[in-house]
Amino acid sequence: MSQAKVLVLHGPNLNLLGTREPEIYGHETLDDINNSLYEKAAFNGWEVKALQSNHEGALIDAIHAARLDGTAAIIINPAAFTHTSVAILDALNAFDGKVIEVHLSNVHKRESFRHHSYVSLRADGVIAGLGSQGYLAALDALIKAADA
Ligand code: DQA
Repeated sequence: MSQAKVLVLHGPNLNLLGTREPEIYGHETLDDINNSLYEKAAFNGWEVKALQSNHEGALIDAIHAARLDGTAAIIINPAAFTHTSVAILDALNAFDGKVIEVHLSNVHKRESFRHHSYVSLRADGVIAGLGSQGYLAALDALIKAADA
């Protein structure tokens, strides 16, 4: 598949990457992560659109828009909404393409409230604990699956 469109969604507080608890989330900024995704997508003839929001409704609106604009897949780090948001799960359930859930940290090694993910009930794949490489691995998996 060429020219496939991928929406990358980053949830609350991920705008602070680079300075937010770097011992957990690393030193890279959100721009660093997005730029490496744009670069990988462009190299493969794909298109990535990235959005960060601290607001649940804005993420849901973006998922709704993705149903109508030819988006083939969503890579989402819902951040804290992972553990709370039935509304994001419902929006993803209404999206027909692939969904990959990404977490920078290994949520299973952390507090027990981070062990449950609503989004995992919908995700086709889940990557946790690989830092920013997790996003690139997610994009790589989508590209390879489309070429297979
Ligand atoms: C996170 C893990 C979540 O538990 C947390 O609320 C985040 C980031 C991660 O990328 O490791 O904000 O999704």
